[in-house]
This record gives sequence, structure tokens and C-alpha cells, in this order.
Amino acid sequence: MKVLLLGTAAGGGFPQWNCACRMCTAGLPPRTQDCLAVSADGRGWYLVNVSPDIRTQLLGAKPLAAGPGPRDTPVRGAFLTDAELDHSLGLAMLREGAGLRVWAPDAVLTALRADFPLRDIAARYGGWDWQPAGAVEVDGLRVTAVPVGSKRPRYVRSDVDGPWVVAYRIEDPATGGVLVYAPCLAEWSKRFDDLVAGATCVVLDGTFYSPAEMSGATGGKLDNVQRAMGHIPIAGPEGSLARIAAHPGVRWVYTHLNNTNPILDPAGPEHAVVLAGGAAAPPDGTELTL
Ligand code: MLT
Ligand code: MN
Ligand code: ZN
Repeated sequence: MKVLLLGTAAGGGFPQWNCACRMCTAGLPPRTQDCLAVSADGRGWYLVNVSPDIRTQLLGAKPLAAGPGPRDTPVRGAFLTDAELDHSLGLAMLREGAGLRVWAPDAVLTALRADFPLRDIAARYGGWDWQPAGAVEVDGLRVTAVPVGSKRPRYVRSDVDGPWVVAYRIEDPATGGVLVYAPCLAEWSKRFDDLVAGATCVVLDGTFYSPAEMSGATGGKLDNVQRAMGHIPIAGPEGSLARIAAHPGVRWVYTHLNNTNPILDPAGPEHAVVLAGGAAAPPDGTELTL
């Protein structure tokens, strides 16, 4: 299986247009908003999340170029982990591509009709096939959704029960490669330990490095906002880096990096801590073969 990391920043991207924090003004390599593409055969590709940057991301990725026919595309569908705007807004940019298949958790399917009526809007442009995320086989990939969170997006008013956030386990039976993609992880449960055990690679929530990063960087009173946002930090005794040590055979890749995250500086001490802990935060465009 081929995995293309199309974007690796959290909502707003890096730098963020209205942010003059230390990181956003440091002239570091920019990153677009989190999503990736996977393929078993290199011909049919599936997006996992669809960021508002998707047009630039698709045009910048050779394997995703249009063709071979005049209106063909290797993009066959998309899996959504949640209904957050940074993970779903890009679908509106793909409205020209009728016939896409989209999988998402039930609550997300409801939100994308009732609160952000993307499904009805898309239907006027040709229409896609929307399916509840569960376990599905597509073009040589086995894709399973696993609930990891109950945080609903801020714009949602519908009183719908979750799960609102899932991770995906994507397996290529031909190679034995297993990808776990979990860009929004509120807590590291026993169930999540079971999910990542035996994975070849885990692309993991790296939104924040430290527990109180937002308040420190932007001067706001945001101390507990991070956890409420549904993102465990990387560092600290309850952070994800301490947990990955229990899975030495796995390749760990952080994504969904918030613009305040000091690991955005590849020469900084925090980035070095991540590498020493057995993980990485590779740039946009990174290609993995599993
Ligand atoms: C999140 O990851 O928590 C959300 O995408 C935040 C946002 O609205 O940008
Ligand atoms: Mn996000
Ligand atoms: Zn910033």
C-alpha cells in the first residue's frame, strides 16, 4: 500500500493567516491542512479526510493527477474521521467529481446534512454516494473505522449521539501492511492500544506538544481548551510519546500539527525529543510504502 501525506497541519494550516505567534512568524517550512491518500494498486486512490487545501494538494501529487481519459481521476472516494471543517470542507472543492464514494460515522453523515448541508449541496452538482463508516473492502484495501472520540464540531447544533470521531485501520492483505490513521485522539484508551498493536505505521494526532501550549503561545486564557478540543498532547506523563514506547515495532508519524506546536521547527529541541522518542513529523508530500 502507498500512503501519501498530503497535509500535516491542524485547522488553519501553518502558518495561520491571522496568527503572529512565535512559530507562525519564524519563517519555517509551511504545512497544509491534515489529510492523506492511500492506494493498494497505485491506480485507485482514496482520500482520508479532505482538507480545504485539497485542490493544491491534489495538483501537487503526481500519482493523483487526472487521467488517463480526459475526465478520469484516480481519486475514487474519501473516508472522513470526523465532521470538523478542516477535515470535510475540501469535499466542497471536489464537487466537479461526480460519483465519488464517501464514508463517515453516522453522526458525521447527519451533521453534513443538518448542520453543514454539504450532502444536499453536492447532490446538485452530480452527487456522491454516502455510506456509514464500518468495515469495507475497496480496491484491495480493507478499511475499518474505530470510534475514538465524542467531541462534536463547534458548528453542530444537532443533538445526535456519537461517536463523532473515528480512527481508521487500513490493511493491504497483499503486503500485510497496516496503517492506522488517528489525527484526533482525545485520550489513549486500552482500545487504542489494541488498535495500534501490530500496525506497520500509525499516523497520529500531534496537534499540541505540551498540555498548556495554546495559552503560552497566544496569550489567551485557554488552559483547558486543548483537552476540550479533543487532542492529547505529545509530551508529558499523559502524552502520546510516553505511550508509543510500548509499541517498538511500529513506525510513528505525527500529523495535524497546530501552528503553536514547537516541533514545527525541525531544528528545535522539541522536534529532537520526538525523534529520540521513536516518532517523526515528516513534511507534506511524504510518501510511505507499507
Ligand atoms: C480540531 O481539530 O479540534 C478542529 O479542527 C478545530 C477547528 O475547528 O479548527
Ligand atoms: Mn482539526
Ligand atoms: Zn501561530
